[in-house]
Amino acid sequence: MRLLKLAHIDTLTLNVFSWAALQPSEDTYCFGKLDKIMELAKRHGMKVCLATSTGAHPAWMARKYPEILRTDFYGRRHKFGARHNSCPNSPVYRKFSVQLASKLAERYQAYDNIVAWHISNEYGGECYCENCEKAFREWLKKRYGALEEVNRAWNTSFWGHTFYDWEEIVLPDQRSEHIDEEHTVAQAISLDYRRFNSDSILECFRLEYDAVKEYTPGIPVTTNLMGAYKPLDYMKWGKYLDFISWDNYPSNEDSVSQIAMNHDLMRGVGGNKPFVLMEQTPSQQNWQPFNALKRPGVMRLWSYQAVAHGSDAVMFFQMKRSIGSCEKYHGAVISHAGHEHTRVFRECAALGAELEKLGGEILGSTVQAEAAILFDWENWWAADYSAGPSVDLKYHDEVLNYYTALHRQNIPVDLVCEEDDFSKYKLLAAPVMYMTKPGADERIREFVEKGGTFVTTFFSGYVDENDLVILGGYPGRLRDVLGVWVEEIDALPPHKKNRFSYQGQAYEAKLLCDIMHLEGAQALAGYEEDFYAGSPVVSRNSYGQGQAYYVGTRSGEDFYQKLMADICKEQQIQPAAKAPEGVEVTRRVRGQEEYLFFLNHGEGNACFEIPRDGLELLTGKACRKGEVMELEAKGVAVLKNC
Ligand code: GAL
Repeated sequence: MRLLKLAHIDTLTLNVFSWAALQPSEDTYCFGKLDKIMELAKRHGMKVCLATSTGAHPAWMARKYPEILRTDFYGRRHKFGARHNSCPNSPVYRKFSVQLASKLAERYQAYDNIVAWHISNEYGGECYCENCEKAFREWLKKRYGALEEVNRAWNTSFWGHTFYDWEEIVLPDQRSEHIDEEHTVAQAISLDYRRFNSDSILECFRLEYDAVKEYTPGIPVTTNLMGAYKPLDYMKWGKYLDFISWDNYPSNEDSVSQIAMNHDLMRGVGGNKPFVLMEQTPSQQNWQPFNALKRPGVMRLWSYQAVAHGSDAVMFFQMKRSIGSCEKYHGAVISHAGHEHTRVFRECAALGAELEKLGGEILGSTVQAEAAILFDWENWWAADYSAGPSVDLKYHDEVLNYYTALHRQNIPVDLVCEEDDFSKYKLLAAPVMYMTKPGADERIREFVEKGGTFVTTFFSGYVDENDLVILGGYPGRLRDVLGVWVEEIDALPPHKKNRFSYQGQAYEAKLLCDIMHLEGAQALAGYEEDFYAGSPVVSRNSYGQGQAYYVGTRSGEDFYQKLMADICKEQQIQPAAKAPEGVEVTRRVRGQEEYLFFLNHGEGNACFEIPRDGLELLTGKACRKGEVMELEAKGVAVLKNC
């Protein structure tokens, strides 16, 4: 408690992996130790984010009820061990986890310092056991009603897969439809399994959610998400969390844009409301191949980066290094030395003091963007499962390319899903929008008709929600709004490239090259090599009052930056502020109040012109428009307007 106070830490996440301690046998619960900790926290004025501990089941439970153990992709039923190890469809797991959540809520409901419930921990993974198989059939019955409809949606006439009885349906894994974890011969089945698995785990969350709400209806409930975590459809999950919290564990090699995109994605999952940085390491991880230290200043910089993108809290894993098991060398606020005289502690304490000084100032303000990028989990699964045209085609990479282009120009971006309201954006980019779900094309058409700018790429508009090809030519239902027809798609191996010129500058065409015909669109660039030299590669179509761009190949960062810069200029989409290379700028807004965050990710000092009069909140200095601000390497400035 002394050290926590020294570090200006005011909120504790407690009880994350305590199930075995809280329930030593089926009929015994022991809350004594937690009672003491809760009392201690309260006495010291600490707020508590109370976890339900259901992220790892006790050994006795696994022994007595082996059905709670997961069966992996290879069909191996696991023994007791590790964590995040419970079958999401095990009725026994569901019963005991809900019971524990309920008991915790009942017991601690009177603690007014509980600021949030933290259900389980980093939900994830998958299970292929018999319970899941049964549950999958039930899930399919709900989704499709009749077996004929399943056969149609899955195109089971291919390779003689027609099902005549629900019981014939098995889970798609290494023993059935899969070549390996990433490659399947039955995309539609594997896609539905992904949906089902995400829904099954979500159901576990929801059951515990209801259990704690029964006693503590006023306490917000979350679970810690993991950024662009592929197995769970967070866009769907986001609707069931009271607020989003997530764990940010980049490696030192990740680009600034990559980290920023994760924050924006997490904000997007929660409907662009403020979120919480639930975990980050103060120094290093233990699970990367090379666990480099965060260099001096980087923990502070990355903490402010989270805030700059919409976080209302900065939290850490972990407070104190443990003495045993795999996380004993994971970074912690308190090292094995056990005292405060360490670089890491000093940095945490300095940040804590600074955040305390900021107080509630920034809380509740939001990021407001004029540009949005579509990020869709079902599309992610479907595009990456596709057998052909290229093994190197990865949905997330393509989204990141467009995100990076905007982010590096300090253009605020929202990550949105198909159901979000597009009308508030000037620009909507949907790289590799492979899947067009029902109604999506109409919403895009309406967006463009009313003056929006839409950008999409190769491998878009191909299939419906069941991975069934939309017939009549690519890009399917997006063909009219884009004004192009893609006849063929060439996949280039990594060492091959084509070229094109755009606005007098030469750029690379890689990965995939669409061979397309213009159907009303205007060519902005054409290929320069191969048998399709001269045919268009980038096009723009005027549709209603708006524009729809089609980029028929993967190019380099230089091209994406140029294209996005041109579009933003034309649509008058402004950067948060102008800043030199390496300085990230974001803006949070609350009513008339605006906060500009300047984050110098570079290795040297950066100088830039202050864009308006204001108050720099971290130093308390008044700033005048036009003056030059010098920000040291890894430095942060937060400028409030006045
Ligand atoms: C998170 C997890 C923590 C801890 C941390 C280590 O994934 O929630 O419990 O394991 O990673 O980086």
